[in-house]
Amino acid sequence: MSKLSLAVDLAGFRLRNPTMNAAGVLGMSPALLKRVYDAGAGAVVTKSIGPVPRTGHPNPTLVQVSCGALNAMGLPNPGVDYFVDKIVKLKEMGVPTVASFFGGSVQEFAEVAYKLTKAGADALELNASCPNVAEELGMLAADAGNVEKVTAAVKAETNLPVFVKLSPNVTNIKSVAKAAEWGGADAITAVNTLLGIAIDVNFRRPVLTNTTGGLSGPAMKPVALRCVWEVSQAVEIPVIGCGGVTTWEDAVEYLLAGASAVEIGTAVMTRGVGVYGEIVEGLERYMAENGFSRVEEVVGLAHEAGRYTESSLDKCNIRV
Ligand code: SIN
Repeated sequence: MSKLSLAVDLAGFRLRNPTMNAAGVLGMSPALLKRVYDAGAGAVVTKSIGPVPRTGHPNPTLVQVSCGALNAMGLPNPGVDYFVDKIVKLKEMGVPTVASFFGGSVQEFAEVAYKLTKAGADALELNASCPNVAEELGMLAADAGNVEKVTAAVKAETNLPVFVKLSPNVTNIKSVAKAAEWGGADAITAVNTLLGIAIDVNFRRPVLTNTTGGLSGPAMKPVALRCVWEVSQAVEIPVIGCGGVTTWEDAVEYLLAGASAVEIGTAVMTRGVGVYGEIVEGLERYMAENGFSRVEEVVGLAHEAGRYTESSLDKCNIRV
């Protein structure tokens, strides 16, 4: 049997293992993102960067809820021109870097992508799905036509792999994923946060100033996993799973559902930065114990299992 390798290739972007942080977690400080890499992640993803500085929503912007967190930051960021130096710094430190970004128009998306490419990012993650900026920037998430247009405009400005991050808050995620693929996306990140709300019973009003926020963490994992399952059936390009990955078993579930890599976010809040190394170790053990030598061998396997039949129920010892 060939030697076990955790390395994966996402449209030419080679990662030492299939884990990354989810955009926004630990912000955009090169020192903090380097900690994520040193802790074992295969690459890091920056917080979403826009064309100009944005302050985002006033506090409170984050609240812990059962089995997860609800956030409505409103895409605060210092703007792409300020951020260029941070990418240079990450690259000097030897950290493979995916730059997450957004714009308020097709043109802005393309301009930011161009600047991030020039700055030396290894790949781009096009944020087509922030749930917290509906009025100004929310034109994308649910509109397949716009997703295709923006993706194509970005691809015209960069030779880097472009991952398009989709929203779970849509009726048919397959059609939005297909549109991104038609626009030239190199991979789909599935998914951003799930729209939710938390109410303070004493103040008798929503906790977040934005009223609604995006739910992340274990509570949303089954939804995100279903999105990965559906998207991987709809497109030919790789899928990056994101949503509630906390343990190595979660990561394996995502691979089995069709993801080629996973992003880990909220788990850092509960388990610390060591969660990356723990998940990578668990994944390696699982592969060794089950006779897999490459991550690709695991990707999508649950689809091949087919639906339960009487004999497969027997094999799993399930009695109906
Ligand atoms: C936010 O800044 O509100 C979160 C970013 C995102 O969910 O895309």
